[in-house]
Amino acid sequence: MSLFSPVASREQAREQRFSSYWTENLNDVFTDVAPYYDGANRVASLGLWDWFLSRFMSVVNVQPGERVLDVCAGTNAIGIALLQRESSLEVHAMDRSAAMQEVGQKRARARGLHIDSVIGDVHELPFPDNHFDVVTLQFASRHLRVKRVFEEIHRVLKPGGRFCHCDMLRPGNPVIEKLYYGYLRTCLVFTGVLFRSGPAALNCKRYFIDALEMFYTAEELSGVLREVGYRDVVVKSLLGGMIGIHRATKTE
Ligand SMILES: C[S@@+](CC[C@H](N)C(=O)[O-])C[C@H]1O[C@@H](n2cnc3c(N)ncnc32)[C@H](O)[C@@H]1O
Repeated sequence: MSLFSPVASREQAREQRFSSYWTENLNDVFTDVAPYYDGANRVASLGLWDWFLSRFMSVVNVQPGERVLDVCAGTNAIGIALLQRESSLEVHAMDRSAAMQEVGQKRARARGLHIDSVIGDVHELPFPDNHFDVVTLQFASRHLRVKRVFEEIHRVLKPGGRFCHCDMLRPGNPVIEKLYYGYLRTCLVFTGVLFRSGPAALNCKRYFIDALEMFYTAEELSGVLREVGYRDVVVKSLLGGMIGIHRATKTE
């Protein structure tokens, strides 16, 4: 990667601004929110949470018996949805937050489903090269060194394997962008009170908007995927670009 590419400069700027937050604060935030994560997101999304998931699931194409990795799996929404669709899948989940995975494992077990869990930082995936048919990553890239994680995912995917990604993105339209951040600011205060967030989560309100403001639009994220070496990049934007869904393939 040339240091002068727009992706390199953006990643460097994000790193400078947020790396201490990513390393020191974020895990405490997810330990705090784990018990109410799913409920808070249902409220914050005005009931659209399950619709986001179903839109994302519509681009995740799996075949019986395939091996899938869900990166930053949180409470295992993706693994559960995939196993409910195709029970013969081998599903692995990785997340740095033991608290989020504990909730996720309980949710999977309650449905009689098995998901292998690894606790660790996804900037280094503890899996061999060319190992997974599909890797998924939902609602976490804003908190990551995106290019580095996309490269790691590329490494562990089999040739022809698919990477499916969904996240809140920076809308390309400045009017939508302003409305979006205004809504999120109000929402973070409201859910903080409603779910009695602890100090770690309450102190992240500013970071949450800042991270989004410095993140990629759907089109820019397609560029990051291509720069890493993925091909056949398909993108769907929801709600004027507030949410972006991508699918990309590792070259055979
Ligand atoms: C907003 S949650 C998303 C969870 C889940 N993917 C979903 O769609 O509901 C973000 C998750 O990313 C995890 N995470 C953030 N940074 C991470 C890192 N560097 N390594 C592993 N997990 C990380 C957090 O612990 C948290 O569970």
